[in-house]
Amino acid sequence: MTKKIAVLPGDGIGPEIVAEAVKVMQALQSDGLDIELEYGFIGGAAYDEVGTPLPAETITLAKQADAILLGAVGGYKWEELDISVRPEKGLLGIRSELNLFANLRPAILYPQLADASTLKSEVVAGLDLMIVRELTGGIYFGQPRGIRSLDNGEKEGFNTLVYKESEINRIGQVAFDIARKRQGRLCSVDKANVLEATELWRETMATMAADYEDVELSHMYVDNAAMQLVRAPKQFDVMVTTNMFGDILSDCASMLTGSIGMLPSASLDENSKGMYEPIHGSAPDIAGQNLANPLATILSVAMMLRYSLDEATMADRIENAVSKVLDSGLRTGDIYSDGMTKVTTSEMGNAIVAAL
Ligand code: IPM
Ligand code: MG
Repeated sequence: MTKKIAVLPGDGIGPEIVAEAVKVMQALQSDGLDIELEYGFIGGAAYDEVGTPLPAETITLAKQADAILLGAVGGYKWEELDISVRPEKGLLGIRSELNLFANLRPAILYPQLADASTLKSEVVAGLDLMIVRELTGGIYFGQPRGIRSLDNGEKEGFNTLVYKESEINRIGQVAFDIARKRQGRLCSVDKANVLEATELWRETMATMAADYEDVELSHMYVDNAAMQLVRAPKQFDVMVTTNMFGDILSDCASMLTGSIGMLPSASLDENSKGMYEPIHGSAPDIAGQNLANPLATILSVAMMLRYSLDEATMADRIENAVSKVLDSGLRTGDIYSDGMTKVTTSEMGNAIVAAL
């Protein structure tokens, strides 16, 4: 049966990088991949079109789809808007509406890019790390929240960090299952020495470990985890953490691989329906100039094929094509180093299609 893919290009470099990922999907379509694409608005682009960053039609489209491909949202243009209609609200809203609680952010260093990392190549060579980030709870969504005026007239901003056992359990299960299929090591990251919500996080993870005797669970405070990620990142196999800690640590981990422009992500619900997006943002400073690296988005298509469409062989083909193109020396600006061939966004996309 034809699988329906909702395509939400979004803002900034979003449309450019998604266009390259679409070329890759179309190439696979002519090789028998049975999908149809349907486009929708999200983020600033949706706000400009209909006055909200997450139109009802987009939610319906995403709910009816088998998988969603998203570019990026946000830009200078919308920074002054009220927080309730800012582009980021569109992204948070769709994650929440679709119950996409499990965010998988792999950080894999392509050997060809060992020199592109700001870290010494021996520190990062061979890096293959998976960050599992809780995506629909924690301080991002906790109530109450807001900015209020105190009696003395001073303003106070407040947010709430809250996790239910059931929320910790379901993300824990995803992380343990992934660890089991990899090297069997799971590090749960928290701030249990200070924050009760993550004290419960630690206790709940520890309790779950009894059901996963083949997985070695460890715990780490988030400040130490940030330090260890740049000191000795290869000690990690799978990390599982809260929404906000995962946001921060995944950006940090991405730089180990040379560029944030290389990393895909999957956000999954209980039934492995997913939304796939690069972990980088909309990069408004280079938008519209054919400069962005489309590889994170193209690799997100590979994740989609693997996790939502049950097409692992096609996923392998994309990943091998990326490797082949890197071998041939083609680089967008973000991963460029001396002696390589600098290419544009669309040239990189074309090269991947050719290498498929
Ligand atoms: C991410 C982004 C988002 C987040 C923003 C754009 C809301 O940084 O996906 O990591 O904080 O989750
Ligand atoms: Mg982020």
